[in-house]
Amino acid sequence: MARVEPATRLAGALAPPADKSISHRAAILAAMCAGRTSVEGYLRSADTDSTLEAMRRLGALVEVHEQGEPSLVEIEGVGLHGAKPGRIDVANAGTLLRLLPGWLAGQRAGEWTLDGDESIRRRPVDRVAEPLRLMGAVVECRDGRLPPLLVRGAELSGIRYELPVASAQVKSCVLLAGLLAAGETTVVEPVRSRDHTERMLVAAGAPLESRDGVVTVRAPQALELGRIVVPGDFSSAAFWIVAATLVAGSELKLHAVGLNPTRIGLLRVLERMGAAVEVVDRRMVGMEPVAELLVRSASLGATAVAPGEVPLLIDELPLVALLGAFAEGTTVVTGAEELRHKESDRIETVVEGLRSLGAKIDGRPDGFAVEGMGGLPGGVLDAAGDHRLAMLGAVAGLASRGGVEIRGAEAAAVSYPRFFDDLGLITS
Ligand code: S3P
Repeated sequence: MARVEPATRLAGALAPPADKSISHRAAILAAMCAGRTSVEGYLRSADTDSTLEAMRRLGALVEVHEQGEPSLVEIEGVGLHGAKPGRIDVANAGTLLRLLPGWLAGQRAGEWTLDGDESIRRRPVDRVAEPLRLMGAVVECRDGRLPPLLVRGAELSGIRYELPVASAQVKSCVLLAGLLAAGETTVVEPVRSRDHTERMLVAAGAPLESRDGVVTVRAPQALELGRIVVPGDFSSAAFWIVAATLVAGSELKLHAVGLNPTRIGLLRVLERMGAAVEVVDRRMVGMEPVAELLVRSASLGATAVAPGEVPLLIDELPLVALLGAFAEGTTVVTGAEELRHKESDRIETVVEGLRSLGAKIDGRPDGFAVEGMGGLPGGVLDAAGDHRLAMLGAVAGLASRGGVEIRGAEAAAVSYPRFFDDLGLITS
């Protein structure tokens, strides 16, 4: 339980934590490499610690250097075909649950069970089981669609797979399986989703081509990453971007924020709403673009988020609902049915959560509509075990008139353990 009082203004500078998506991928790909990989700035959070533990179980040597910032993790991989059989506890990490079966399915022998917490057990895995089976994999799941997931090593063949839903996790799973399959594996996306896996595979020397939403990979002899630097997580920075936009008189600087074009749909939406976000000092960190962001408060107009934009801001849609409560007019999100399959049913939890703070918001099967009221009274929000809901409640508290009490605020540690410390830094 935590209480966040209304802020008079937000000021100062901070660096968001390292990118969660990229950290998961760095650990998994490093374990698939034959040699040693140094991951500089690996995210230390509940989710990404689960991935390090999983890589240890599979036989990789993982050394976490606790001293110093940014954190350093060194991983001695087992090679493409060297994963040790066993049980893997993914805890709350959906990305680990969806990516890892791709690698394991192509092992020459062995059996793995992937299981996790109560929330993970409600998250569909048939979306990865189906394409893997088409490649020749042996995969079983509970009731045909839920974890625990059983994977047995088998010989795989490349396929051409048209994703039924835009999902970077499913795309990545098929691409990882493609690294162990005979022939070519192609994934066709209906709408572009985050491409961190593709960028990292190219950096690791995998034969991969990507154009216009069609990604093709072939089996390499071996993978080699060497050194990776993880940029700041745009999805974590997004909480501060929105907070500084909503709290009048704010001026906030955010350092080294990852600005991969497949992640920053929120910036386009904010621009349309009239927000004041300046991007300076654009540069590349390894294979990912980063920059400094300068955010000032602004008054906002409503907007409509279209289905084609959804994958570019899937994890930021709860924040769009909050922005909508402060904007003039009605903000509508459509084509976002995927939100129902996140750490919570994020259409339901966002609608219920913001309603309990006084917002006028209605859920729809594939999104929501929020009527702007120029602000929020405040109240009590239940995070429902979902890290992004806990942080949404805190940002709502900063911008509210009466403050917000967050039930289950500790869920923030899944992706952003220092969230409440950072909040203290920019409000004091
Ligand atoms: C992620 C992809 C997204 C996102 C999740 C992380 C990833 O899920 O919501 O938080 O790291 O690939 P989907 O790919 O299932 O949409």
